[in-house]
Amino acid sequence: DMGGHDTYMHKEIHEQADAVDRALRGRIDDRFSTVHLGGLNLDARDARAVRRVKILGCGTSYHAGQIGAQMIEELARIPADAEPASEFRYRNPVVDPDTLYIAVSQSGETYDVLAAVQELKRKGARVLGLVNVVGSAIARETDGGIYVHAGPEVCVVSTKCFTNMVVAFGLFALHLGRTRDLSVADGKRIIEGLRKLPAQIEEILANEAQIEKLAAEYADAKSMMFIGRVRGYPVAREASLKLKEVSYIHAEAYPASELKHGPLALIEPAMPTVAIVPDDDLLEKNRAALEEIKARSGRILAVAHREQEKADHTIVVPKNEDELDPILMGIPLQLFAYYTAKAMGRDIDKPRNLAKSVTVE
Ligand code: F6R
Repeated sequence: DMGGHDTYMHKEIHEQADAVDRALRGRIDDRFSTVHLGGLNLDARDARAVRRVKILGCGTSYHAGQIGAQMIEELARIPADAEPASEFRYRNPVVDPDTLYIAVSQSGETYDVLAAVQELKRKGARVLGLVNVVGSAIARETDGGIYVHAGPEVCVVSTKCFTNMVVAFGLFALHLGRTRDLSVADGKRIIEGLRKLPAQIEEILANEAQIEKLAAEYADAKSMMFIGRVRGYPVAREASLKLKEVSYIHAEAYPASELKHGPLALIEPAMPTVAIVPDDDLLEKNRAALEEIKARSGRILAVAHREQEKADHTIVVPKNEDELDPILMGIPLQLFAYYTAKAMGRDIDKPRNLAKSVTVE
C-alpha cells in the first residue's frame, strides 16, 4: 500500500521523520548523557578495549558506514574506517583482535557482507551488526548489534534506511564516546541534536516543490559531478549513487579537495556540480572550490545551511550539530534523484539491472 504516494521511493522518503524517531525511541539516557543500545553485547570494559573500528557494507550501506566511521572518530576518538565488504573479503585482510568490526546491511542477507562476517568470525574477531531486518542472516551471525528500525523498505533504492543507519551510527558513536573521553556536555549537545532531527527532516521535505523545480532545471545534464569535503564527501557519494540508480544519468563523486588534481578538466556548462557545503570549519575551503568551478563556467547546485553566492541555486537545509549534519544534507538529494527520474519516466521502484537484496556472489 503506497498510501497516496506514486512510488515506494516517494513514500519511504516521506517516512524518514517517523523512522528516525523510532531509532531514537527508548534509547536516550539523559541522566548520563548517553544512549542504551539493548543488543550490543559490548560492556564498558569491552568498549574501552577497542583500538580500531572497521565498518563493512555494500553500496548505500557502505556510504552510511563511511559517515559512521567519521562519527566514531569524532565522538569517540577511535581510528575508524569503512570498506566495501565485497573488497574486504577477497583481499585476505589482516584481522586484528583489538579491532571492532561492524557489518552494515539493510536486508541482512547481502552475500558479500555475510561472507565477510563469516570469515571474520572464523578468525576470532568480534563483529557487530548494524542491520534493519530483524532476525536476518547477518543479524544472527554477528555477536550483537544495533537494529536500525527503519521499518520495511520496498523500493530497490535505499533512502530511509540509509538515514536511519547514519542515525544508528550516531547513537553508537555517542555511546562509545561516553565510555571514553566525550564529556557530559558534549554528550548532551549530541543528544539535543539527535532530538531535533525529526522536525528538521519535516522542514526539508516541506521544501519539496523547490527541489522538483531544480530537478527539471538539471535534467538535461548528461553527467553530473557531486562534491563534498570530509563530512560532506560520503554524502556526495551517496547522492551520486542515488541519481545514477534511479535516473541512469552518469554521476561522479569526488572530494572537493581532489578537484584540482584532475576532475576539474571535466567542468564545463554541460557538466553541472552538486556541492555539499555545510556551515562548519571547512566552509571557506568549500567556497573556494565553488569559485574554481564557476571560473570554468560550471553550473552549481549547492546543498548548504545558507544561500551560497557562488552557486546558481542553493537548497537550504537546517543546521544541526556539525557531527550530525551529514544525516540531513543528503535528504534533499534523494528527492532530487526521485524527481529527475520521474521527469525521465524511469521505473523508480525497480531500476533496470538491480535487485533489492543481492544474495549471490
Ligand atoms: C542502493 C542500494 C544498494 C544496497 C546494497 C546493500 O540504493 O540499495 O546499494 O545498499 O546492495 O544492500 P544491504 O544494505 O541490504 O546489504
